Amino acid sequence: MNKVKGLLKKDLLGLRDISCEEINLALDTASSMKEVFFRPVPKVPALLGKSICLLFYEPSTRTRTSFEAAAKMLSASITNVAIAQSSAQKGETLIDTVKNLEVMGHQAFVIRHKMSGAPLLASKNLTASVINAGDGFNEHPTQGLLDIFTMREKKGNLKGKKIVIVGDIAHSRVARSNIWGLIKLGAKVSVVGPPTLIPKDIEKMGVKVNNNIDEELEDADFINVLRIQLERMGKGLLPSLEEYHMIYGINAKRLEKCKKDIVIMHPGPINRGVEISSEVADGPYNVILDQVQNGVAVRMAVLFLLLGGRQNAAE
Ligand code: CP
Repeated sequence: MNKVKGLLKKDLLGLRDISCEEINLALDTASSMKEVFFRPVPKVPALLGKSICLLFYEPSTRTRTSFEAAAKMLSASITNVAIAQSSAQKGETLIDTVKNLEVMGHQAFVIRHKMSGAPLLASKNLTASVINAGDGFNEHPTQGLLDIFTMREKKGNLKGKKIVIVGDIAHSRVARSNIWGLIKLGAKVSVVGPPTLIPKDIEKMGVKVNNNIDEELEDADFINVLRIQLERMGKGLLPSLEEYHMIYGINAKRLEKCKKDIVIMHPGPINRGVEISSEVADGPYNVILDQVQNGVAVRMAVLFLLLGGRQNAAE
């Protein structure tokens, strides 16, 4: 029985900051929210009268759109700020931007930013809730929650399950949110990738590091394949994308030695032929579009718990 009634803070900045009970509450709430999808009219009045502001300083397809869909299904109103046409281009600071938007009546901000810590900075200057939609190399907590939700949906309780995260761990906020969340739930996590893309001391987060992918995949329950983030990398970290695919890419041949019920995940967007081959990305073991659909349910849950459910947190 989950004793937590709501997320205990006003913000969701990362899975590092929240408890195992809060993670389970978000996942359980997302299960209820997913039922709304299959109703003839997929809309509930839970956040009627609430206003949510989306501030994306970096590109996004999935996260931005699914927050928008989630807010609409909960009957909240949405302001989508077009950063390229905003006064950020005239030098306005993040703090000035969010303070101005808060006094216009927004109760929550969903922020993506290339600087790690930008959502935290905004949250310290706002009474409104802040949800981190991805900050630099730091965290992407709703991606972490939707990945964990999808794993739980496919294989139940994650205690003792083995998740192998493959790829560019160094530049990945998705890897960090997965690791913080999965370790709290008792899963076993291994990270695999070229030594240049594995952060020093990552073992301190509770994960195993191995540069030999085939050794790690043998007994894996899930493979979470990360995008090679060329836009964040300095030069010289990879010899070539072809060589990366040969050594670390997830392709049909590599899957032959895996468990028969292996589940392949990818947060998107995919570099086909680099970290994953098309036959695997479109094949029977992948749950990539399930992740995307579950993202809406998870974001409904987070918005509801922060904006509609927090009054219950202290009960
Ligand atoms: N997974 C993810 O964050 O995708 P977007 O960059 O499209 O939002």
